Amino acid sequence: MADLRAEVARRRTFAIISHPDAGKTTLTEKLLLYGGALQLAGSVTARKNQSSSASDWMELERKRGISVSSTVLQFDYEGRRINLLDTPGHKDFSEDTYRVLTAVDAAVMVIDAGKGIESQTRKLFEVCRLRGIPILTFMNKLDRETRDLLELIDEIESTLQIHAFAVNWPMGVGARFRGVYDRTTQEAHMYERTVRGAYKAPVHVAGIEDPTVKDALDADSYHHFVEQLGILDAAGAGFDRADALKGGTTPVFFGSAVNNFGVQLLLDALLAHAPPPAPRATSAGLLAPDKDSFSGFVFKIQGNMDPKHRDRVAFVRVCSGKFTRDLSVVHSRTGKSYRLANAHKIFGRDREIIEEAYAGDVIGLVGYSDFGIGDTLTEDPAVVFDEIPRFAPECFARISNPNPAKYKPFAKGLEQLLREGVVRALVPRDAGDSKTTLLAAVGPLQFEVVQYRLE
Ligand code: G4P
Repeated sequence: MADLRAEVARRRTFAIISHPDAGKTTLTEKLLLYGGALQLAGSVTARKNQSSSASDWMELERKRGISVSSTVLQFDYEGRRINLLDTPGHKDFSEDTYRVLTAVDAAVMVIDAGKGIESQTRKLFEVCRLRGIPILTFMNKLDRETRDLLELIDEIESTLQIHAFAVNWPMGVGARFRGVYDRTTQEAHMYERTVRGAYKAPVHVAGIEDPTVKDALDADSYHHFVEQLGILDAAGAGFDRADALKGGTTPVFFGSAVNNFGVQLLLDALLAHAPPPAPRATSAGLLAPDKDSFSGFVFKIQGNMDPKHRDRVAFVRVCSGKFTRDLSVVHSRTGKSYRLANAHKIFGRDREIIEEAYAGDVIGLVGYSDFGIGDTLTEDPAVVFDEIPRFAPECFARISNPNPAKYKPFAKGLEQLLREGVVRALVPRDAGDSKTTLLAAVGPLQFEVVQYRLE
């Protein structure tokens, strides 16, 4: 039991939310670099010349020649076990993107400081807010010309209706960006660039009156920085950590992911400000993550991950207890018992059997065709989760079967995709006995997936 508690307490499970091109993929890679995971031979291996890209992380894999998981990256840092969940379909927004946010305990919101808050960031933020999870903000691309920085902070507060506290503040902007000042420790972190940001940026830490800090900045930038710091400090209240943990305040960090500026401070802040797994609501009341019996829910189904096997993987967020290989659980929706022999960590196209997992972790179950989005798997049949909300559809399409002779396989295939939660089916009031089905989705990509899978 003490073991279980300690394992749960050291878990940190989060996702990165952003609008395409703000730098999510770059920041993911840099968090891995600073977390030491890029050197973890075996889990992240060199893979070059991959051409297909089925998720954003496969894009990362393709671009950088490293293999990363398509759903969750797990690494140990400073005694903590970090699970970084991919928000799939980042560029092709879909309901899957929202659902992943039901499986995390915190989020990092990446904003391009040249652009401010963009539409997709706002939508994803709303889902996080509904869940009341802490959100850390990373203001990215400070090495380029940005919008007025105080205005960006105001924009977070007014557009998202959340208090924003700048934990650090940039020293110089654009070509003159040299580092960030940590307002909580009152130290300046001055960085040096490395070629293509391939290595950690060498850093020098000192007070702002230190000559080395003054020398690193041109006089204009230094004065501007001091002036803005004065405005921030005059604005009052310090950082309210308790409010941040409730999602009422977002701590804001500045940096440049591509140059590795400010990444270490963000990673350290994640350990400090992102909480371990919290109790979750179930039909049997609040369920503590360190309760003995195992339980979790399916938040994502991925079909045909391996074209050679035409299989499907149900991704389960563990919410309580300990998972061990061959564990027997009840599948709440059908009441059937299953032995979970096929639990995997999925690394791109590679798989590794999972021997054990704790609340906060994600396990990939291969081949259980009964399992659908939102389903509960548990050792305690009284526990049923209701974690996956319905998201308002924004796109609609009609689907019909061009080949009446194949009615049965068409109906069966569509039913399977509906069960997987790829799209939703709506029945129009005036449908009569029409043979077309009205499909509804959050993003148009979902329709393409349906068409592709049915063909
Ligand atoms: P995304 O996953 O959110 O879509 O963004 P991604 O990381 O792919 O970054 C989008 C573009 O922004 C990339 O440029 C990336 O290099 C650039 N970028 C990310 N962080 C920074 C930063 O701190 N400063 C600057 N100046 N650029 C940044 P690209 O031209 O699309 O790709 P690449 O050829 O650079 O790889």
